[in-house]
Amino acid sequence: MNATTVTPGIFRLSTNVRDILFEGLWPIPNGVSLSSYIVKGDKVAIVDGFCGWDGVPETLLALLSKLNIQVEEIDYVVINHMEPDHSGWLEAFRALRPEFTIVTSAKAVPLLEAFFRLGNQKIRVVGDGDTLDLGQGHVLAFTEIPNVHWPETIATFDTKTGTLMPCDAFGSFGAIEGAPYDDELTPDQFKFFEREAVRYYSNIVAAFSQPTAKAIEKVEKLLGDKVKIIAPAHGIVWRKNPGRIVADYKRYVSYQKGPAKAEVTVIWGSMYGNTASAIPTVIKTLKESGLRWREFQVPRDDIGSILAACWTSTGIVLAMPTYEYKMFPPMAAVVEELAKKKVLNRHVFRLGSYGWSGGAQTELDEIVRRHKAGWSFVSPVEFKGKPTEADLDLIEKRVRGLAARVHYAILRADKRR
Ligand code: FEO
Repeated sequence: MNATTVTPGIFRLSTNVRDILFEGLWPIPNGVSLSSYIVKGDKVAIVDGFCGWDGVPETLLALLSKLNIQVEEIDYVVINHMEPDHSGWLEAFRALRPEFTIVTSAKAVPLLEAFFRLGNQKIRVVGDGDTLDLGQGHVLAFTEIPNVHWPETIATFDTKTGTLMPCDAFGSFGAIEGAPYDDELTPDQFKFFEREAVRYYSNIVAAFSQPTAKAIEKVEKLLGDKVKIIAPAHGIVWRKNPGRIVADYKRYVSYQKGPAKAEVTVIWGSMYGNTASAIPTVIKTLKESGLRWREFQVPRDDIGSILAACWTSTGIVLAMPTYEYKMFPPMAAVVEELAKKKVLNRHVFRLGSYGWSGGAQTELDEIVRRHKAGWSFVSPVEFKGKPTEADLDLIEKRVRGLAARVHYAILRADKRR
């Protein structure tokens, strides 16, 4: 846990969480940071809550004491977002400090009641354009950013320092050891957080890419002039170059509809090694194509990593056997999740083994159609049992065809940019 000064009057309280599944679902092999921000004028506000997983009062009191702030000084708790990684500490905080006002959106109020049974708690409802004057020039301005990542989400902006606290927007996975600020990171740390931002975006925010695009549009107009620092609830604080994370997020949004990068993600599963025996041919052909590729096996590899790879890939190879007249079940689960997260308009090649009959393609087509994923398929290659030399030759040809489509899609996108 850590307490640092973002800029005079704004302080970051942060802790790292590891060894959990985020949202009870997503593996976070490199952990995640959870941050709150204290804004100190004559009155004191704490924006977002981070302590749900790390202990209130112990963690909170220890961090506040580093900043010479008493818990009794906190007048306002700004709930930007009701998801419990932000709000889960409220009950414990109330036990410590009963007299304070919650500042949040109208949509959050019924959820507050449902989650915490807050009774006669003082609540101030804010929406687009509303402000809260803390004194000493610190005026908080609120903006609704619905569906980034829940419908009730708001962003909080300190007008004095130009610090935007956008909650989940512009965040990333990855525990922060030491420096939390972009002006203190090494090039390797930037690379690490870029990877973790893609993982975070694809796992948590992806399905809400269009609302995220609207939030980015709002922020972009204010960058440099009004917004000088971006301080998300997860990940590093951007106070040297906030435009960098805004541009990164803009790219992540654009990957939803494709084309994304010149990359192909290969996902395969195999029951007895027959489908697996075709994978070396796929990989060899991709290597020759000059495209970047990544390989995952289901159900061995985690869905969060697969989703992150597919989000930045323009091409996808799905290799799996038919199982009980349908897709190999762990592959069906992956495809369903890719479609739900709106990994759209990808170029896809499917191959796989069957015994008595095929059927995998029928289920794959049904999922893609139901979710309107818009995937464009290279003709599939199915083989009975083990692939023959002729099957492998055909697979090689189809992978070359997929690579050509990916190259062409990237070329066309580059020309448009
Ligand atoms: Fe950081 Fe939507 O929770």
